[in-house]
Amino acid sequence: MKIFVDTGSLEEIKKANDLGVLDGVTTNPSLIAKEKGVDFHTRIADICKIVKGPVSAEVVSTNAPGMLKEAEELIKIAPNVTIKLPTIAEGLKACKILSDRGVKVNMTLVFQPLQALMVAKAGATFASPFLGRLDDIGHDGMNLIREIRTIYNNYGYKTQILAASIRSPLHLVQAAMIGADVATVPYKVLEEVLHHPLTDSGLKTFLEDWEKSHAAKA
Ligand code: G3P
Repeated sequence: MKIFVDTGSLEEIKKANDLGVLDGVTTNPSLIAKEKGVDFHTRIADICKIVKGPVSAEVVSTNAPGMLKEAEELIKIAPNVTIKLPTIAEGLKACKILSDRGVKVNMTLVFQPLQALMVAKAGATFASPFLGRLDDIGHDGMNLIREIRTIYNNYGYKTQILAASIRSPLHLVQAAMIGADVATVPYKVLEEVLHHPLTDSGLKTFLEDWEKSHAAKA
């Protein structure tokens, strides 16, 4: 499973990259807006200097010509820029045009399986179902991943399922069990994944025993 970090923060991206297991980055307008006073294109360029894998940069136009115009500027930034488009009719049109040209596209805000089917037909590289936001309104976000996995397997679609809106390590493990190709996670969740109280207490005991045996020999 590929792991992307879902943030606009360079500090978090550097820390995630230093772990040695980071495969890419996703951003969205809300995440970029949290980075006060930052120029969007400059930030994407800076992220691409740190991470070699796909870096999703989202457009804000709501019509296909506007999306394509924004995409033109974004793909000039670096070869690993992936164009993130909303899963609406205009986004689908732009996805098909860009995908046919070999531009990597991440179709975002996927909330039901037929949206995922449509974006696969339009050649998207990634489809991003938002688990957490479905859970927030009392739906089963993980079931959406399951349904998309089945549909893509049934027809051999190559579009990668990018599990997004992940809120906890449990979301991550469940997405991995179902076979999501990618999970994009907030940096906080990446940190949580590496913590287990038995790891901490076990390590503490190992180090104390080591110290004791060395003290006895001295
Ligand atoms: O980047 C898209 C997605 O991961 C957003 O997550 O937590 O805002 O629902 P969230």
